[in-house]
Amino acid sequence: MSVSNNRDSFGSKFGIIAAAAGSAVGLGNIWKFPYITGQNGGGAFLLIYLLFVFLLGIPVMISEFSIGRRGQRNVFGSFKAISPGTPWYFVGIMGVVAAFVILSFYSAVAGWTLEYIVKSVTIGFGNQSTQQLGDAFQNFLVHPIRPIIWQLVFMTITAYIVIGGIKNGIEKYSKFLMPLLVFFLLVLCVRSITLPNASKGLAFLFKPDFSKVTIKTVLFAMGQAFFSLSLGMGALITYASYFRKTDNLGRTALNVSLADTFIAVLAGVVIFPAVFAFNIEPTAGPSLVFITLPEIFSHIPMGNLFGLIFFILLAVAALTSTVSVLEVVVAYFSEELRINRLKATILASVSISVLGVLASLSFGPLSDIKLSGKTIFDMLDFLASNILLPLGGMLIVIFVGWYLNKSTLFDEVSNGGELKAGYFPIYRFIVRFIAPLAIAAIFIYSVFYGSLG
Ligand code: PFF
Repeated sequence: MSVSNNRDSFGSKFGIIAAAAGSAVGLGNIWKFPYITGQNGGGAFLLIYLLFVFLLGIPVMISEFSIGRRGQRNVFGSFKAISPGTPWYFVGIMGVVAAFVILSFYSAVAGWTLEYIVKSVTIGFGNQSTQQLGDAFQNFLVHPIRPIIWQLVFMTITAYIVIGGIKNGIEKYSKFLMPLLVFFLLVLCVRSITLPNASKGLAFLFKPDFSKVTIKTVLFAMGQAFFSLSLGMGALITYASYFRKTDNLGRTALNVSLADTFIAVLAGVVIFPAVFAFNIEPTAGPSLVFITLPEIFSHIPMGNLFGLIFFILLAVAALTSTVSVLEVVVAYFSEELRINRLKATILASVSISVLGVLASLSFGPLSDIKLSGKTIFDMLDFLASNILLPLGGMLIVIFVGWYLNKSTLFDEVSNGGELKAGYFPIYRFIVRFIAPLAIAAIFIYSVFYGSLG
């Protein structure tokens, strides 16, 4: 049975990097990274984060690429193809469940970016006090309909791209959207670092102050690296199943990780100088982007234009990520239920949207439904980010490090011996020993810490 011959695939190296970096670069970089960095002491957090990206993130990414390209199927099918007759396919099922859960709450936040795009061109941010901007955000969140409409619009755009397939959908749009994103980010960087007192913000981001570092900082950095690089749920396994046999997995992982890190740092360079220029606390948390930034836009010349650029940037970043998460479920449905891509996409997006609507409503009408103090949104986020992703990531490295033959793994990483892959011994050592232990640490800590919080 040679399904692989009829499978869609990426058409170019740049397309692969744009799509995989598109998955990695998302709300995690532009919304989450700056506020977590702000809350965890700035430069010291950044340094620890970088350490995890290189020590842990890249090896896990190479492992996901190896599974996907070897398996040539969706995340469930890939595990089944590589390890027939074993229960490893369960890791694939977990990946599909994680994708389902992530997309349900992620699409809610992605929808907020659309509200703010419209806001920048209609009423704008000018002449409003911080209080008013905060109230506006709050009123929007609790509204029973508006956030849901935007969420569904966002899901529809995501589904539209996914229906197009790999080459003519995901790759085509990523190749256009990712350069656009970098361009917008650079425009905003220039604006931000030319504000008065910008250097204070840069110092906050780049000057490590280790007195702020605790065990919590270290584990947060590890969790963030994981989420930001799209690891642990099979998004990159699914994408790699569309790679060609000649694509260099190690180099691709390095490029994607560098791009993701570079963009997270640039997002910090946009946000912190602006925050310090207006004497705002950098520790605002999740509202940093939706309240603090509009406040800044209300003060600078052409603020509405920069606001518009910023929220388009955020939407674009989110879109290439939601596309990759939806593709995990669509590939699974279409290959395992043997239905066509159109049907699979409709089935996946409609069912995810049902859960998504509940996540959105949990800020307003459903805010009273709580389990151990967590709303539906918080529960879904917790389940995905603190349980499914770390557990999935740990099982992936154990699978690659301990179950897969050394020669099979080398074959994949070196393209059948075509590439030298001199890093192989150290890579395999990390995957066998360091990564499982380190991820187990995040997992145990976050379950414990999360259950306290
Ligand atoms: N990496 C994305 C971000 O940083 O926003 C989020 C994400 C996408 C997580 C895909 C997990 C995933 F599989």
